[in-house]
Amino acid sequence: MALLFLGMLLVLLSGFDTAQTLVVTDMDYGGIPLWINRLLGEPSVLTLQGRVDPGWFRAKNPQPCPEQCDCPIQWPTSLYCDHRDLKNIPEGLPDRTQYLFLQGNNISSLSSSLLANITGLRWLIIDNNQLQSDKLERASLQNQTQLRYLFANRNQLTSVPSALPAGLRQLRLAHNRISSIDPGAFQNLNNLTVLLLQGNRLQIIAEGDLKGLASLYLLDLSGNSFSAVPRHLPPSVQQLYLSNNSLSGLDEDSFVDLLSLKYLRLSHCRLQSLDVHPQVFNFSSLVELDLAYNTLTSIPTVPTTLEYLYLEANYIQDFNVTSFCRDVGPLSYSRMKILRLDGNKMTYHQLPPDWVYCLRVLQKIYI
Ligand SMILES: *[C@@H]1O[C@H](CO)[C@@H](O)[C@H](O)[C@H]1NC(C)=O
Ligand SMILES: *[C@@H]1O[C@H](CO)[C@@H](O)[C@H](O)[C@H]1NC(C)=O
Ligand SMILES: *[C@@H]1O[C@H](CO)[C@@H](O)[C@H](O)[C@H]1NC(C)=O
Ligand SMILES: *[C@@H]1O[C@H](CO)[C@@H](O)[C@H](O)[C@H]1NC(C)=O
Ligand SMILES: *[C@@H]1O[C@H](CO)[C@@H](O)[C@H](O)[C@H]1NC(C)=O
Ligand SMILES: *[C@@H]1O[C@H](CO)[C@@H](O)[C@H](O)[C@H]1NC(C)=O
Ligand SMILES: *[C@@H]1O[C@H](CO)[C@@H](O)[C@H](O)[C@H]1NC(C)=O
Repeated sequence: MALLFLGMLLVLLSGFDTAQTLVVTDMDYGGIPLWINRLLGEPSVLTLQGRVDPGWFRAKNPQPCPEQCDCPIQWPTSLYCDHRDLKNIPEGLPDRTQYLFLQGNNISSLSSSLLANITGLRWLIIDNNQLQSDKLERASLQNQTQLRYLFANRNQLTSVPSALPAGLRQLRLAHNRISSIDPGAFQNLNNLTVLLLQGNRLQIIAEGDLKGLASLYLLDLSGNSFSAVPRHLPPSVQQLYLSNNSLSGLDEDSFVDLLSLKYLRLSHCRLQSLDVHPQVFNFSSLVELDLAYNTLTSIPTVPTTLEYLYLEANYIQDFNVTSFCRDVGPLSYSRMKILRLDGNKMTYHQLPPDWVYCLRVLQKIYI
């Protein structure tokens, strides 16, 4: 048995190029390791299909198990019903179910009666299905007080569902067709830390839309239709991803309410230096700033606390130390570790002689 597990783990490991993709294991999985690809911002919840003969699970496990699922005996609270063209959630889900894997099916609706017998559901993974907002019964998840993770990436949802259970920690709704947030959708979600909405059709976030998200630290709004940095974002946000929106510019106060903001991604946003206020990034919580693939012609002013700055593939022509250091002294210098300036219109020879006194802890520079 131990050998079998080791074998499986090796299969799982060999499927990833660990040099390029940052992977972490998450231990709250009810069984097998879950690998999350942080670079894609997308979970890849592993399937058991093709790894272990389903007959083996069935022969070994005397507990009831729906015909359409695998119920591994080692992980008694997990049901693997993924990747089998299911049109509906299987009936007769055992009440022991805590981790329900339904990704890669053809499920369009979620009704309250199907989940009514389960009270301990912790994860509902329903990525890559056909879920539609009007077929999502309002009461379906309301009573799932133990639900922590709801992953519904790559479905057909047109709005953020309302009446989500208050204990939710992660809500992943990337790559749907979401253009609106139902009023009060988040009002009870005090414990939500991760909200993924990239690859949707959002244009604005109205006051009150995100009200209630007191613990949110990661908000991914990349690849939507924003033309300006949305206002009314929760002040707890530390990671804000807005890449791949066509932003018309950045104002002095675009991020002023985000007192905890550390990681800001604004690549592929068609930003021009003229439309970017010189002081917009000058706040000291910032650690990482991604401005790659824009049309900037100069390096914006950044705080001395910044450690990672990505400016590759812009039109930057010169390097002015004042962007990084207002003055240089024993304690006043830039904490920059990685600076990317490759794919711009400048060469290493253009660096002024005094740059090393300012960027004195730099580990890597790409020009
Ligand atoms: C819920 O449990 C009842 C009683 O065991 C059963 O009759 C019913 O079919 C179950 N419902 C579902 C959706 O599994
Ligand atoms: C999924 O269901 C729709 C109808 O709801 C059907 O048209 C489509 O062929 C199904 N796709 C697969 C892969 O079964
Ligand atoms: C939710 O729980 C309440 C109280 O326990 C119950 O009355 C109601 O029928 C439940 N709703 C659903 C959809 O199961
Ligand atoms: C939110 O998290 C806190 C701390 O873990 C916990 O005490 C509280 O019950 C949670 N709220 C809900 C609604 O689950
Ligand atoms: C940007 O978003 C669009 C629409 O969501 C998508 O098709 C495109 O691949 C994205 N581009 C990048 C570079 O992420
Ligand atoms: C950036 O902010 C710091 C601290 O608030 C301030 O001292 C400095 O003058 C600002 N930089 C510029 C270029 O205005
Ligand atoms: C660098 O920028 C500062 C402030 O914008 C300016 O006063 C100075 O002339 C610039 N230095 C060079 C070499 O362009």
